[in-house]
Amino acid sequence: MNDKKKRLAVFCSGTGSNFKALFHAIIERALPAEIVLCLSNRSQCGAMDFAREYEIESLHLSETQFRTYDEFASAMLQALRERRIDLIMLAGYLRKIPDAVIAAYPEKIVNIHPSLLPQFGGHGMYGMRVHEAVIASGETRSGATVHFVNEEYDKGRIIKQNHVPVLPDDTPETLAERVLLCEHRLYPAALEKLLDEQP
Ligand code: GRF
Repeated sequence: MNDKKKRLAVFCSGTGSNFKALFHAIIERALPAEIVLCLSNRSQCGAMDFAREYEIESLHLSETQFRTYDEFASAMLQALRERRIDLIMLAGYLRKIPDAVIAAYPEKIVNIHPSLLPQFGGHGMYGMRVHEAVIASGETRSGATVHFVNEEYDKGRIIKQNHVPVLPDDTPETLAERVLLCEHRLYPAALEKLLDEQP
């Protein structure tokens, strides 16, 4: 493992429970990484509050602040370059990453998805929709997947997966809770693996 700390940006839109899990794991396991930026399309959300509380730079960046999508993409790229970001971790970021950013960070952008990809992934499959689809399908296993981000939704190379059972009396909400707990263990483990593999 390279001991030089990797500079991480975490992208969030919501509560940021995965962001918190990553943050605590980095400290507790002394991982060679530092979260230097929390970027969100929302100025107010749990993730941004957490960043402010722990004095991590929080950056509100949204398409609505720019005249064109290209200007938004350039601003995101510039923000990442200025901060010398090595890895981008998506943690409940509900926006598409601009293609220009994906092209500039090949296999350096990571996402966590609440199903066992390639099942129940793709455009429009996020949040409770995933768990509703899993239950409707009659699957007895679900789980979470950490994968690289490429131009296609949820299709990038898989880094790590963990599974959980789907119980006969599960609702989408009870399954979501079980999967989220699984994510909180999986994402730090995947980051650790990734850091081990970084040059
Ligand atoms: C998680 O279920 C994750 O898989 C998905 O968005 C949710 C984020 O939750 N990408 P949180 O904001 O980390 O609590």
